[in-house]
Amino acid sequence: MFITIEGMDGSGKSTQAKLFAEFLREQFGADKVVLTREPGGTAIGEQIRDIVHSMRNQEMSSRAEFLLYNAARAQVVAQVIRPALAEGKIVLSDRYGDSTMVYQGYGRLLDLEMVTRVIDYATGGLKPDVTFYIDVPIGEGLARRSNGHARGEELNRMDTQTREFYERVHRGYETLMQQEPARWIKIDGTRSIERVQSELREQFTERLQTLETV
Ligand code: TMP
Repeated sequence: MFITIEGMDGSGKSTQAKLFAEFLREQFGADKVVLTREPGGTAIGEQIRDIVHSMRNQEMSSRAEFLLYNAARAQVVAQVIRPALAEGKIVLSDRYGDSTMVYQGYGRLLDLEMVTRVIDYATGGLKPDVTFYIDVPIGEGLARRSNGHARGEELNRMDTQTREFYERVHRGYETLMQQEPARWIKIDGTRSIERVQSELREQFTERLQTLETV
């Protein structure tokens, strides 16, 4: 089973992904669960992450950015995700192709059909069975990020976009959810970490009954 978690910057998605991986390990066994992230998840992907997120690379073109995210994706799919799924494991990825759809497609205004095709090429058509969307209002996400930066958390190149950019990204997620309601589970991310996590677990358990295989 392939599960992904999506959300805006500052949604708390990565914290939720780690807690959810713990839950999956308790439920299905530690050796049956693989947690990965994008961009990253492999040595090559982490090097690409450094390039796309470096504040030094302000001159990066939207097309270069788009292709780098997909290069990292092609690698993690080939090296981590497909082999784990072939062994019957559960893979949980913190971000996946939907992030490129919303950040580079809707956010950077790249052609959506082309974006869809390239994601398909990078993944070989591998789609998640379930995708959680941790929803927070744009203002709250941005405020959480800037509080985090004030406390010394990393500031990356993708954190320095305009509010209009994040508004397009947010609308992009809403559009994707409308297009494929059966795959997405939307969770209200404005509540405490514990409340968000328990809703995630409940919703997953419910959804599990409708999915054929683990
Ligand atoms: P995160 O690991 O903290 O979620 O940060 C990843 C950043 O990269 C976030 O701003 C979203 C951005 N991103 C894209 O723009 N496109 C992508 O395909 C992916 C995976 C991430």
